[in-house]
Amino acid sequence: MSDFEIAPSLLAADFGYLMRDIKAVEGKTNYLHLDVMDGHFVDNLSIGVPVVESIRKYTDMFFDVHLMLTNPEKFVKPFADAGADMLTFHIECTNDPERLITLIRSKGLKAGISIHPDTPIEKVIPFVDKVDLVLVMTVVPGFGGSSYLDVSDSRIKAVRKALDEKGSKAFLSVDGGINKKTIKEAYDSGARYFVAGTAVFGNEDPGQAVEDLRACVTM
Ligand code: DX5
Ligand code: ZN
Repeated sequence: MSDFEIAPSLLAADFGYLMRDIKAVEGKTNYLHLDVMDGHFVDNLSIGVPVVESIRKYTDMFFDVHLMLTNPEKFVKPFADAGADMLTFHIECTNDPERLITLIRSKGLKAGISIHPDTPIEKVIPFVDKVDLVLVMTVVPGFGGSSYLDVSDSRIKAVRKALDEKGSKAFLSVDGGINKKTIKEAYDSGARYFVAGTAVFGNEDPGQAVEDLRACVTM
């Protein structure tokens, strides 16, 4: 039993063959990361409610939905109804994180909070023991294939310290630029839930890529 999880990010999959790509990783991990973008909070668009609803019919994987959008409150019910298992919102996009966490949980979902690399890490600390997952973005959100930012390690360490001090078992997640090298760096800094897009679906064999990433942490 390992003490960490890997969540392939569907953003890097072939959107013409979504279920083929999901099936390629299904037996290798239970977690699937789904990026939702609005063109406002981030400079890009991606998948939304109908895609989540459609793929829900064909897999029992845990849907970790990353909401990169303003007004996340508005989308809790639609994504809950579509079959999400966890909703992770951005701290920059709400005035009342605690109320949003309560709303997400009231729908029977797990709640995550995420922080943009430009936001001081202190902002998220008061909430780390109130959620199921804390996502420290390790790239500027909006695009796959970016490079892991150097500032990430110290930010991960700060959240790790806060979680440990508060005795929280919440996942410490990282997202962006995770590959065979950076996964170990992030693990050593205290991350335990690794979102990886390009490193998984950019590979000819996505299932094997998940195993290779796992091996980089444990060896
Ligand atoms: C980017 C998304 C990520 C993205 C990561 O803003 O939140 O989940 O898919 O892609 P890679 O692993 O290619 O950096
Ligand atoms: Zn993401």
